[in-house]
Amino acid sequence: MFKIVKREEMAEGTVILNEIEAPLIAEKAKPGQFVILKATETGERIPLTMAMTDPVKGTITIIYMVVGKGTAVFRDLVVGDTYQDVIGPLGKPTHLEKVGKVVCVGGGTGIAVLHPITRALKEVGNHVIAIIGARSKDLLILEDHMQAASHELHVCTDDGSYGRKGFVTEALRDVLENEKIQLVVAIGPVPMMKFLSQLTKEYNVKTIVSLNPIMVDGTGMCGGCRVTVGGLTKFACVDGPEFDGHQVDYDELMLRLQAYCEDEKKCYEDYCVLSA
Ligand code: FAD
Ligand code: FES
Ligand code: MG
Repeated sequence: MFKIVKREEMAEGTVILNEIEAPLIAEKAKPGQFVILKATETGERIPLTMAMTDPVKGTITIIYMVVGKGTAVFRDLVVGDTYQDVIGPLGKPTHLEKVGKVVCVGGGTGIAVLHPITRALKEVGNHVIAIIGARSKDLLILEDHMQAASHELHVCTDDGSYGRKGFVTEALRDVLENEKIQLVVAIGPVPMMKFLSQLTKEYNVKTIVSLNPIMVDGTGMCGGCRVTVGGLTKFACVDGPEFDGHQVDYDELMLRLQAYCEDEKKCYEDYCVLSA
C-alpha cells in the first residue's frame, strides 16, 4: 500500500498533485521515468510520470489531468488514503549530457513530465531555456518550478491571458532564429509535439519527445504501447518513452490513442453518475 501524504489541486481542479510514500521507487527513480498506479485491487492501471522525487523523505510526486474514469478515481483519493499498487520506476531514463544550449518546451500537463528533465539538464551543465504554455493563465502549472529549473523561462497562453499570446511553437521559432541551439526537448499533447518537431527539423536541431501511448503492463509484454519510430515498431514502455521527435509517426499515435474513446467516455459518464 502506498500512502498519499500531500494532495493539491491545480489548474482550477482539473490537475491533481499527489505526493506518495514509495521509498524504494524514490531511491531508484531517474528523470524521464514513470510509474503505473492502481487505486484498488481491480482498478485501472494508469501510467504517470514522476514529476518530482524525494529519496530522503521516500516520496514520489505525480501530477495528472483528470480526463476519464481512471484519473477521476485517483482525484477522489484524499491525504491518508492509499494506492493499492505503484509499480516502477519504468521506462528508460532521459539521456543526460552537457551539449550546450538546450530548449525545454512543455504544454499542459506535459510541463509536469518536463520538469525533472529540465532540472537535470541544467544540473549537468547545459544552459537551459524553458518555454511553457497552456490554454489560459488559470490552466498553467508549475511556473515557479520551471523558473527554478531553467536559466530563462518564456510563458505562453493561447488566449493571451498571461505571458506571450500564442503557441509554444511560435516562441520556440524566435529562439531558434536568434540562438544556436543544440537540443530541444518537447513534451505535451501529441499535435504540439508533431508540429514542434516539424519546426525543429527546418532548423536541423535534434529533438527529443516523450510519448504517451496507451499502456497496460508497462514491461514490454503486451504490445499495447507500440509506436512507429523511424519505420520500426518500438514499445514506448521499455524502448522509451523518449524518442527522436523527427522519426515518430504522430498520426498513427493519435489514431491509437483514440481507439477506445467511445467506451472510455461511457465509463467516465457512468462513474460520474454513480459517484454524484
Ligand atoms: P480514459 O477516459 O480511460 O482515457 C482518456 C484518454 O487517455 C484515452 O483516449 C487515451 O488517449 C488515454 N489513455 C487511456 N488509458 C490509457 C492508458 N492505460 N495508458 C495511457 N493512456 C491512456 N498524464 C498526466 O496527466 N500526467 C502525467 O504525468 C502523465 N504521464 C504519462 C506517462 C506515460 C509514460 C504515459 C504512457 C501516459 C502518461 N499520462 C500522463 C497520460 C495518462 O496515463 C492518461 O491520461 C490516463 O491513463 C487516462 O486514463 P483515464 O482512465 O482517466 O482516461
Ligand atoms: Fe505493454 Fe508496453 S505497455 S508492451
Ligand atoms: Mg481509462
